[in-house]
Amino acid sequence: MDKLLIEGGHRLQGEAEMSGAKNAALPILCAALLTREPLTLTNVPQLNDIGTMLKLLAQMGVAVQRDGPVVTLDASGLNNPLAPYEMVKTMRASILVLGPLVARCGEAKVSLPGGCAIGARPVDQHIKGLTAMGADIAVEHGYVVARTSRLRGARLFTDMVTVTGTENLMMAAVLAEGETVIENAAREPEVVDLANCLVAMGARISGAGSDVIRIQGVERLHGATHRIMPDRIETGTYLCAAAATGGEIRLTGTSAAYLDAVVDKLMDAGCDIRTEKSPSFEAIVLRAPQRLKAVSIRTAPYPAFPTDMQAQFMAINALAEGTSIIRETIFENRFMHAVELARLGADIRIDGNTAVVQGVAQLDGATVMATDLRASAGLIIAGLVARGETVIERIYHLDRGYERIEQKLTALGATVRRLS
Ligand code: EPZ
Repeated sequence: MDKLLIEGGHRLQGEAEMSGAKNAALPILCAALLTREPLTLTNVPQLNDIGTMLKLLAQMGVAVQRDGPVVTLDASGLNNPLAPYEMVKTMRASILVLGPLVARCGEAKVSLPGGCAIGARPVDQHIKGLTAMGADIAVEHGYVVARTSRLRGARLFTDMVTVTGTENLMMAAVLAEGETVIENAAREPEVVDLANCLVAMGARISGAGSDVIRIQGVERLHGATHRIMPDRIETGTYLCAAAATGGEIRLTGTSAAYLDAVVDKLMDAGCDIRTEKSPSFEAIVLRAPQRLKAVSIRTAPYPAFPTDMQAQFMAINALAEGTSIIRETIFENRFMHAVELARLGADIRIDGNTAVVQGVAQLDGATVMATDLRASAGLIIAGLVARGETVIERIYHLDRGYERIEQKLTALGATVRRLS
């Protein structure tokens, strides 16, 4: 298994180009299932999760063409509405084929994704919504088996804000008969990017980005070309890495528009952040102080502070001046990076979904283990500032969500090496 070796103590400075958003690309790849015509996507990030999703779609009969960040999908030959366990277990987002398959084929057999390190991750809301739209759904032998003659529009209310739940139900509704209203919908920018792509394909959607999304079903969708939005979590991760190292960086190909909560907290911590904007271009510039001030955070659905940035902020708080409180309200087990940070010398006390972080003056390199995608990012940030060498094990987690991370960090002045 690959490991990452980081030599701490280098200020990050310079420029890095951000990639397309993993969590926008994943649902949008599944939207190709909704039409017989080709869907062309640009700015698709080159990540393991994207490769897994393309394999999953190809074994259903979707023709996949990929040329770097450009992907063209043609689902006219879709003949196997099945998402097998062997593929779904490696990537939970596979559940996003469920809504489109039921809408397009009237049937689907999708393995339950199962839990992961950060939580049980149930999909009951996905099933509840599709059932309300007229699908007969059985959960048997670890699979969701769905069948319907044609989905009909319904008024849906999710018990909690669910990002992929909202995305699955929106994709199911675009070909349903009549109007669907999704109440308590997720407002994440990735949901809006999916809606924009569906509208370009001929769907009739209003309210995406708010907590009430209205969809008027249509007979069929047509092909389109869509550019995937920038990855706001990758962007936030690099901003935190620069902040932790007292650095100064410029991130291009991205936007601060979707990162208000994160930018606010980094400014509270003492960073100077500004955006450069032109008709064809946007960049974020961050200049960090010598030492950050501790900032408390509470994760919640967009536009509040994103849970996917929690581990990164725990890492920067570990070295900041003062004490911070971190509340994780989305997932029940998303503090596993805390014990790994403690191996580097961090002073963190966990009490349920609350972590109390006492900033220390110095961290010392050690061998640590990545447990999930964003925890890996938090450990990298800590390794960049720890004295000496840090080795991060199980970095396959990292490769799922961060494109060419060693190259980008090295270009910013870090000393990072992959050990196979
Ligand atoms: C999406 O996961 C993201 N993944 C996650 O990013 C992100 O952390 C999460 O949203 C929250 O923002 C993708 O978009 C592919 P949820 P998702 O459904 O949709 C509970 C990353 O690192 N829930 O919004 O699976 C659930 O257990 C990943 O890129 C139910 O109980 O998250 C959780 O506590 C990690 N029943 C809460 O809701 C359901 O049917 C929010 O989950 C659905 C969700």
